[in-house]
Amino acid sequence: MSGRRTITVELGERSYPIVIGSGLLGGAFDLGEYLAGDDCLIVSNDTIAPLYLDKLQADLPGRAVGTISLPDGEEFKTLDTASSILDTLVASGAHRDTTVIALGGGVVGDIAGFAAACYMRGVAFVQVPTTLLAQVDSSVGGKTGVNHPGGKNLIGAFYQPRIVLIDTDTLATLADRELRAGMAEVIKYGAIADAEFFAWLETNMPALLGKDPEALAHAVRRSCEIKAEVVAEDERESGRRAILNFGHTFGHAIERCQGYGEWLHGEAVAAGMVMAAKLSGVEPSELSRLQKLIEAAGLPVAPPRVGAAAMMNAMGMDKKVLGKRLRFVVLESLGAANVTSDYDPSLLDQVLEAAS
Ligand code: NAD
Ligand code: GLY
Repeated sequence: MSGRRTITVELGERSYPIVIGSGLLGGAFDLGEYLAGDDCLIVSNDTIAPLYLDKLQADLPGRAVGTISLPDGEEFKTLDTASSILDTLVASGAHRDTTVIALGGGVVGDIAGFAAACYMRGVAFVQVPTTLLAQVDSSVGGKTGVNHPGGKNLIGAFYQPRIVLIDTDTLATLADRELRAGMAEVIKYGAIADAEFFAWLETNMPALLGKDPEALAHAVRRSCEIKAEVVAEDERESGRRAILNFGHTFGHAIERCQGYGEWLHGEAVAAGMVMAAKLSGVEPSELSRLQKLIEAAGLPVAPPRVGAAAMMNAMGMDKKVLGKRLRFVVLESLGAANVTSDYDPSLLDQVLEAAS
């Protein structure tokens, strides 16, 4: 184990640590002190449990540990699956001092967090994220929920964990495509909040894709620092937190038009970030740097040909629309973003032409 680092998400009495390091699973970290009582339920899935469940249990010495393994896939991020967790809690006689622990990617974390928020009006919750996307994004900040046939993440709750425990060694088994998809969110942090980090990513992308442990640890740390700082300032997304959606309005429209599962979320966000940067009117040299970095990460820089009108229509259904005006996260320059509904409609038409 080396280089353990703790970042605090400052939310008053609901503040919590993000502990990041190599070798944290397998008995090197005592998770027990973060539990509400002696009992816990680990929620994982059929892919991740065989890889990491034993190791996580070693971090819970002397605790009464129940487990539930969900089927793997976004299509199972449903109320029915959340209900199966609640059924398990009821059947095991879980009380208010039970802790729900999510071991997995964003799908497991979102469902388990939602079940934790619902059971007895909220029991303690712990995140142990195992994908890059979950380590840099979904496990931090308290957004939990499930999908509805009417839309993604339509049902959910803000519910903060007691700790986020990130063992970066888990990324060793992650598929390359999933790693690259998570890298889109890492690039996002540099683009919206830290020009120096963006430049570091430009230099270190080959090492990151080669799963160099030091490089990955730095990328996860810096991403979590930025997310923690933004969430601390605006937990419920009434203002600044919206900058975390850079590229997502276009990205969600791509996913909706294509059908979920065609492109991974991070792939759609990557193309969406290029579209949003074009709408921002950033310097051509900065737009070019963003495109090159996204390409270097093996991610798309243009949307699929789903049609400009279909994209516009899909964006009209986006939850981020206030009234009838679309709001976009735009870049002032690399490293600085804000949210605006004051954009040039003809420029939006031009940007959407890429999908024609
Ligand atoms: P995922 O959870 O589906 O994981 C991707 C795949 O990798 C799955 O097959 C999973 O079983 C597998 N996997 C996970 N860890 C592994 C490991 N260490 N080794 C080998 N395989 C592993 O996908 P994701 O990208 O982690 O998360 C996507 C979800 O996150 C979406 O549902 C999205 O809506 C949600 N999300 C939530 C937030 C939030 O703030 N709550 C933010 C972004 C995304
Ligand atoms: N993924 C964006 C947010 O957490 O606000």
